[in-house]
Amino acid sequence: MTLSGFALRLAQISDIHCGELTFDADLMESIIERVNRMKLDVVIIAGDLTANGYEWEFEDAARWLERIEHPKVVIPGNHDSRNVGYVHFERLFGGRFSRFRTEFDSLRAERLQATGATVVAVDSSSPDLNEGHCGREHYGWIRDQFDEPDDFKILAIHHHLVSIPGTGRERNIITDAGDVLAELAKLDVDVVLSGHKHVPFFWGLNGMLICNSGTASTRRVRGLTPPSWNEIQVDASTIKAYLHYEDGRREMSLIFSLKTRTLTRDDFYLTEDFVESNRIYAASAAPLSSGR
Ligand SMILES: [Fe+2]
Ligand SMILES: [Fe+2]
Repeated sequence: MTLSGFALRLAQISDIHCGELTFDADLMESIIERVNRMKLDVVIIAGDLTANGYEWEFEDAARWLERIEHPKVVIPGNHDSRNVGYVHFERLFGGRFSRFRTEFDSLRAERLQATGATVVAVDSSSPDLNEGHCGREHYGWIRDQFDEPDDFKILAIHHHLVSIPGTGRERNIITDAGDVLAELAKLDVDVVLSGHKHVPFFWGLNGMLICNSGTASTRRVRGLTPPSWNEIQVDASTIKAYLHYEDGRREMSLIFSLKTRTLTRDDFYLTEDFVESNRIYAASAAPLSSGR
């Protein structure tokens, strides 16, 4: 096995919004094809599978997603809980809260200094509301799911836990974001995966990497942000995030050091599309946006 063969790889795809006027079937087709050509441990579908939670939209989403030839973790988003859509979600995709674990073989475990990877998936939606909420009643359950202390730990939740620059007025951040972040920090969670804002962005916070994905397959975009999805790659010393764009480009967006548990200035990359779509951020952080 080559050195890179040890890496933990996952795809983070969100906000596909089947049924939406601007859903792009050709784009979705190309995403499925590209994902299936990749060597991935798991694909996280981080919510908003539908436009309005209707049964036919969920069935459409299920037809697309069943073609992904990797293990999948699927969570609902706020659009999926409209019109009692969570009933269809549960029928087609199972529980709204779930856990996925992959155990590493001994070579990989030694290289990645982890026994495996645990993904805990949480439904942050509420019927017919756009804002996100986790709820104190779920904190104990989340704690119990991360029951392998030496695993690489990933939380998937649709709504964002930290505001995202260049996305306008903040309205839908998880209402108990502070308490959730404190819980995750206590649990030594490594990565948080969210969607919802339709703008990709990354924060390093208290040793965690927080990854937000754009809309993968629609024109429900903000400003100049193009559709995109994320690839996350974990090796012995770093986490790398790549953005995949609709024209087939795969560009490195950042490096997070697992030694210092931070995004460092030297190691922070931003793609041109990323800078273009986050001009407010780019203007206030010029040294970070120069790219390399
Ligand atoms: Fe969305
Ligand atoms: Fe959403």
